[in-house]
Amino acid sequence: MPVKFRSGECIPLEMHKTRVIQRLNLLPLEDRLKASQEAGNNTFLLKNRDVFLDMLTDSGTNAMSQAQLAAMLDADDSYAGSETFYRLEKTIKEIFGVNFFLPAHQGRACENIICQTFVKPGQTALMNYHFTTTKAHIMRNGGKVVEIVRKEGLQVNSDLPFKGDLDIARLRHEIETLGAENICFLRIEAGTNLIGGQPVSVGNMREAVKIAKDAGILTVFDASLLSDNLYFIKMREKEFGNTSLKDICLELGRLFDITYFSARKLGCARGGGLFMNREDLYNEMIGLVPLYEGFITYGGMSVREMEALSIGLWENLDIHVIEQTPLFVEALVNELLAAKISVVTPSGGLGCHVNAMEFCDHIPQEQYRAGALAIAAYIASGVRGMERGTISEERNADGSEHLAEMELLRLALPKRVFSLSHVKYIADRLTWLHENRHLIGGLRFTLEPKILRFFFGKLEPVSDWPQRLADKFKKDFGDSL
Ligand code: F0G
Repeated sequence: MPVKFRSGECIPLEMHKTRVIQRLNLLPLEDRLKASQEAGNNTFLLKNRDVFLDMLTDSGTNAMSQAQLAAMLDADDSYAGSETFYRLEKTIKEIFGVNFFLPAHQGRACENIICQTFVKPGQTALMNYHFTTTKAHIMRNGGKVVEIVRKEGLQVNSDLPFKGDLDIARLRHEIETLGAENICFLRIEAGTNLIGGQPVSVGNMREAVKIAKDAGILTVFDASLLSDNLYFIKMREKEFGNTSLKDICLELGRLFDITYFSARKLGCARGGGLFMNREDLYNEMIGLVPLYEGFITYGGMSVREMEALSIGLWENLDIHVIEQTPLFVEALVNELLAAKISVVTPSGGLGCHVNAMEFCDHIPQEQYRAGALAIAAYIASGVRGMERGTISEERNADGSEHLAEMELLRLALPKRVFSLSHVKYIADRLTWLHENRHLIGGLRFTLEPKILRFFFGKLEPVSDWPQRLADKFKKDFGDSL
């Protein structure tokens, strides 16, 4: 809850307290340097024991509530017909106003099911913006992705409150030129991950879905980041200022033909699922659940996680639960802006997104500005962020590099995990890094996997810059970690 101090400063006061904690470890500088080399300069390959603040992602790392933990003890273990599943199904039906639910082990599993069922070779999926695993599944099934986010969505700084909104004129144009029969579906991701956790307005979703439905095009909603998006709808979209979060969920659940989500994000648990009102779509997809996930009453999730998810989805309807990440992101964004560091604005959900295009503008984009910044930040702070730039893209069909439109270092703020002193710590170390940014150099691949290379690819620095960066750190901070 934002509260004002006597000085006028606004503070994101936490509306929860810590009752279980995990010990953290901040390695000495030399060990961080060594760990970064052993991880092939890829923050995905760092061992968590070598990480101080894990800001890689919020996926499966959000703090659970005591009600979620308590519910996990009351789970009904059964391969088929578990009471736990029926509780989760009932929750989803009630919150989103739908009739059918299919469980899956996580978000990308839902994407596999949707893409295997609906993407035909040569077809195009229209969407505001792709997510890495979504695009990979579409391409694997012979499809292509065309992104139609509003142009402001790809500008680092804008005043637009909903930068994830679709460009409606582009949507009409793409349908006209491609032909509805060549479009497998319209997919809307809200919030929009890769452009900086930026929200989508209900008004825009209504308009886009209507156009698609009139043209007979299937509509798919990726609700993985809905928690933050709900907060922004409530705060930034006039029509919804007095609408309950439950009513917003009901409207969104009913709007789309199919909704899917990663429960590693939405609902603060681990798992995923698809829900819908159309029985024909449910029947088309259900066969793939036992094939890839597990029986239709667990879909690869443990019963304990399903119980936690049911509670987590209800808790998501509490403004003090969903406000925590956006308010902390805003706090970090403000700290960095005060230090004149370019970050994505307006501040969104998921995490703070540092503009590596500017931070490392002395590095050629082919040498992975955001990847270099991610590893430099780890060396300077022990904090692990995630590259969301060219490394996260797939190469073009002819093997050439696909340069990303935005080069971002994402510092994710999992729900209820970090404190304000953690936020201040990373802001301070990034400010130091910005002052010394000329010392950061580029990276090149030494091992480049063909699919989703950002996950386990290995890179090396183009010079001995990590050592020089560490030497400067030592000079400035002495023995301080
Ligand atoms: N869609 C969106 C918008 C996501 O952010 C993610 C995951 C997925 C789908 C896939 O879900 O991981 O459960 O298979 N995003 C994570 C992240 C990995 O770190 O942003 P999943």
